[in-house]
Amino acid sequence: MEALTPRHTRVLLATDPVRHLAALKEAANVLQQGGLVVLPTETVYGIGANALDREAVADIFAAKGRPQDNPLIVHIADFSDLDGLVAEIPDSVRKLAGAFWPGPLTMIMPRGRYIPDSVSAGLDTVAIRMPSHPVARALIRLAGVPVAAPSANLSGSPSPTTAAHCYADLSGRVDIILDGGRCSVGLESTVLSLAGERPRLLRPGAVTPEQLRELLEDLVIDDAVLHSIDAAQPVASPGMKYKHYAPRADITLVHGGLEAYLAFLEEHKGSGVFALTFDADKQRSPVPCVTYGSEHDPASQAEGLFSALRRLDASGARQVYARAPLPQGLGLAVYNRLVRAAAFREVYLGDQVPQQFLNEKWGFG
Ligand code: TXA
Ligand code: MG
Repeated sequence: MEALTPRHTRVLLATDPVRHLAALKEAANVLQQGGLVVLPTETVYGIGANALDREAVADIFAAKGRPQDNPLIVHIADFSDLDGLVAEIPDSVRKLAGAFWPGPLTMIMPRGRYIPDSVSAGLDTVAIRMPSHPVARALIRLAGVPVAAPSANLSGSPSPTTAAHCYADLSGRVDIILDGGRCSVGLESTVLSLAGERPRLLRPGAVTPEQLRELLEDLVIDDAVLHSIDAAQPVASPGMKYKHYAPRADITLVHGGLEAYLAFLEEHKGSGVFALTFDADKQRSPVPCVTYGSEHDPASQAEGLFSALRRLDASGARQVYARAPLPQGLGLAVYNRLVRAAAFREVYLGDQVPQQFLNEKWGFG
């Protein structure tokens, strides 16, 4: 991998595109010159570069330490920006864009002629997203170029949901970090391929399978969404095979009601053992505890999960028992990230349902 020359990183406040227009103009200028700008989106922060500038795109890979075979998402501000970026706009894309753009949905389409090889990692497809965050949209418009942006974390650490997370990972590696506050969704976008025979969900996110099925009767859920896949196996989405969202501690995902979970913690307590559970459980945990939202509110779990993983690392946790979310609606995306952070280690307590529940409910398998 190409070495990156150290950079002086400036953090600029940009919570509002009007009030912070000067910061956005500066950042847009940096993008036009081939620099790297960390930008807030409604999902997670991204490291942005001009998607049409090969060298700038190569710098993204170097700054993140990202494997070259993992393609990037290209961010646009207007539907007409698709011209030249994709070879063809499938009908389903128009329909889905009407319902979910701007927003947390990435759509994979046949690749257009202006997309450099490195953005697509040599695939004949390209992933496109139109974010809804006003700062992201204003920046793309001011720069006047499509913006390639993976999540703004070092490869292997949890995606960043605050500017402080980005600074911790990327200081000295990017030119500007735009501080737009906390990301409202907190998990990366839904990734949907529309380049194959049937629409295929590659990564669950805030646009849920239930919502997609309303417009796409023949939606297929890729195996990699819920299962561990062999690194040697060819996969539809290269990102799925990497050990993602991996905190330093070993995480085990525990399925069960609160009482069974607390008894389990009691049996397993010891030095370096932590609980990762819902806010209301905190008082009763027999071991040090980090929380990630409320049990019946998957949106709060999505928002809190990645910061919770970073807090666990900061507190020196070595063994973490995480209470599993219900994998329905947005909870499926929360579960997908957590089970990967746990390297697919799961235990079922009492009458909790096993994998079969998921298979029946979702038709996976
Ligand atoms: O919410 C998000 O999507 C954030 C923000 C910054 O927009 N971005 C993000 O990017 O999560 P990244 O690079 O961390 O994840 C992109 C995922 C990877 O799993 C990658 O393999 C997949 O999308 N991907 C990108 N292009 C693809 C393609 N042409 N075919 C299949 N998968 C693709
Ligand atoms: Mg990422």
